[in-house]
Amino acid sequence: MRMTLADMYNTPDERNLLDTMKQGIIGKPLDRPEGPLKVTGTATYSAEYKLDGCVEGVLVLADIPQGTVSTIHRDDVVAMPGVLAVLADEAMVRRSTQGTSGKAPAQDVQTVDYFAQPVALVVAETFEQAREAALALKIEYEGAGNPVPFDPESADAEVETPSDSKPVKGGDLEQAMRDAAFAIDVDYDTPGHASAAMEPHATIAEWQDDRLILRGSYQMLAFNVKEIADCLSISPKKVRIIAPYVGGGFGSKLGITHEAVAAAIAAKELGRPVRVVMTRQQVFQTVMRRSETRQRVRLAADAAGKLIGLGHEALVSNLPDEDFAEPVTQATEFLYGGENRLLKVEVARICRMTAGSVRAPGEAVGMQVLEAAMDELAEKAGLDPVELRKRNLPAKVPVEGTPYSSRMLVEALEQGAAQLGWDRRKPSPCQTREGDWWIGMGVASAARVNVMIPAEARVTLNADGTALVETDQTDIGTGTYAILGQIAGEMLGLPISKVRVVLGDTSLPAGAGSGGSFGAISTGSAVMRACEAIRKKLGKKLGCEGDALEITDGMASHGEKQCSLIDLLDGEDMAEIGSIKPGKTFKDFSQASYGAFFAEVGVHAFTGEVRVRRMTGAFGFGRVLNAKTARSQCLGGMVWGIGSALTEELAFDMRDGHLVNHDLAEYHVPVHADVPALDVILLEERDAAASPLQAKGVGELGICGAAGAIANAVYNACGVRVRSFPLTLDKII
Ligand code: MOS
Repeated sequence: MRMTLADMYNTPDERNLLDTMKQGIIGKPLDRPEGPLKVTGTATYSAEYKLDGCVEGVLVLADIPQGTVSTIHRDDVVAMPGVLAVLADEAMVRRSTQGTSGKAPAQDVQTVDYFAQPVALVVAETFEQAREAALALKIEYEGAGNPVPFDPESADAEVETPSDSKPVKGGDLEQAMRDAAFAIDVDYDTPGHASAAMEPHATIAEWQDDRLILRGSYQMLAFNVKEIADCLSISPKKVRIIAPYVGGGFGSKLGITHEAVAAAIAAKELGRPVRVVMTRQQVFQTVMRRSETRQRVRLAADAAGKLIGLGHEALVSNLPDEDFAEPVTQATEFLYGGENRLLKVEVARICRMTAGSVRAPGEAVGMQVLEAAMDELAEKAGLDPVELRKRNLPAKVPVEGTPYSSRMLVEALEQGAAQLGWDRRKPSPCQTREGDWWIGMGVASAARVNVMIPAEARVTLNADGTALVETDQTDIGTGTYAILGQIAGEMLGLPISKVRVVLGDTSLPAGAGSGGSFGAISTGSAVMRACEAIRKKLGKKLGCEGDALEITDGMASHGEKQCSLIDLLDGEDMAEIGSIKPGKTFKDFSQASYGAFFAEVGVHAFTGEVRVRRMTGAFGFGRVLNAKTARSQCLGGMVWGIGSALTEELAFDMRDGHLVNHDLAEYHVPVHADVPALDVILLEERDAAASPLQAKGVGELGICGAAGAIANAVYNACGVRVRSFPLTLDKII
């Protein structure tokens, strides 16, 4: 069922106020206003602020997997040139929080829970002095030799059902598997992933009396303020975080990490600002990872290829006591039919660094496996994989019975297929050869839940006819500056050049933050609401409702009445705070963004090397707010998909649980040579249930299933079904 505005609000069609605006700024592929600052190196990132008297801290990491710090040989390094302090504080060694709650897990003083956990901070006048001293610092531990599990599959790893993950059960899956005309029962595994944001985690901490100012690289500032306050046992009112530019996050900056807490503690103790920048290796070793997964997928289909049963069970891992468990089955709950079902996630307690949200937690790895298993079913049932998917889109969410707010999956499958030339695909493998390369095509659906987070934003219509948008919302490279300016400009009838957007400062109204694809729709809706309030006031001055007001090029009009904004404002600025929170429509409807991936690969007949030759993604995510930034998010997601399919893998040493490939030389994200020209199709859609903007999240959609399409193309090319990601050549040859 497709929800229309008519159903929701009794309006005659799906157009809302935004569609009636004369300018049509929203949706346009406008450049990011801050782009020139970034490419000329003049946008100031966290580590780049120049503060008087600022000193440098370097984190020291444990070189054991578990134990207790017994002695820190401070005296040896405190005597070294420039060294000011060696700090090892209980709060500092607490685990980084992962965006799941405001509280850091309680922890004993200086207990090491995983290899490379930060245990101390060395502060010196210069970075080089601090690094030298940190390298020289000797730390002794007790209980370091005790055996602890590093492997989620090992017998001594405890397995639990995570507290916030309820299994979905319906009917009798076992019986459905027995009754099925076609049944698939397969095990897949996916490795851990690193967020690998371009900007490493960095903080400069400064105290002004009892107030803490952090310049830090974070995604969700209002939440991060609470976290740091909790770690330091101070009031959140005493903390301000400034982060106008953030060089990527992908989940790794949802919660504060060690460098922020350490810098704050050191700055307090020394009475000077302290900068702590993690090295790339430290980011890999201490910031959260995506859990590896083992997934069992059972698909039971009738003779027509319709699912009668669906099982998706996953084993993930995390440290003991951590709430987060990769929600592998999140999209499986609503994507396909099959009332007889069992979906569940279990978490193995092991000693590796914290597992948390990494780009599209859940769907990224859950969809890639589900979609690979669907390919196996299509082959078994003798159906075209696109047709199989179309046949299995239920009218309502199985078991729950919730209707869908909107779903452009069929359109995405059809348009993506046309774009790639799917009709040229051969149904069975090893049919197309070009020189030494087997060529094949694969498809996968994309789905990602739509999330809204409470948000506020202030919009000021200045007396001079310009506008200012202010919120602590971050722009982590996703286009927030552009989008929020477009929304305000559209709503207030101003060209984009007259709208200024100020972000990333917790002294401003609290936005949603960036994460979970919720930033644009949440904070964007708050901006829209603020503008609605301004339009209402302007309308009053002109004697009409806000909705009836027309504003173009700084002129407000209603019928015959017309007045310039500057005259209407009469020397007074007009400021309004808009706010939004998820309402009833989030309970009443299953809300998700959808899409489809089509990939063509070549597999080298003698080496097993896989090259992605072409890839298309078609996506429907409600109203497109900026076609350029949305497309970029989709491109980025598909690049992640190529990495997840072919190269990315955290490798742990099972002797001590240390991460072996802790840098970008050894952890292989796709490079230009790995990525062909990618096609992105944006499907116009309106979803009135999702947000006042009628937009849904798009940030993470492009990764959700992408690797499955590539794996399916590999099978179609060469007939090798690899059920262990990534598909490195040793597994194919
Ligand atoms: Mo999201 S996990 O913050 O990319």
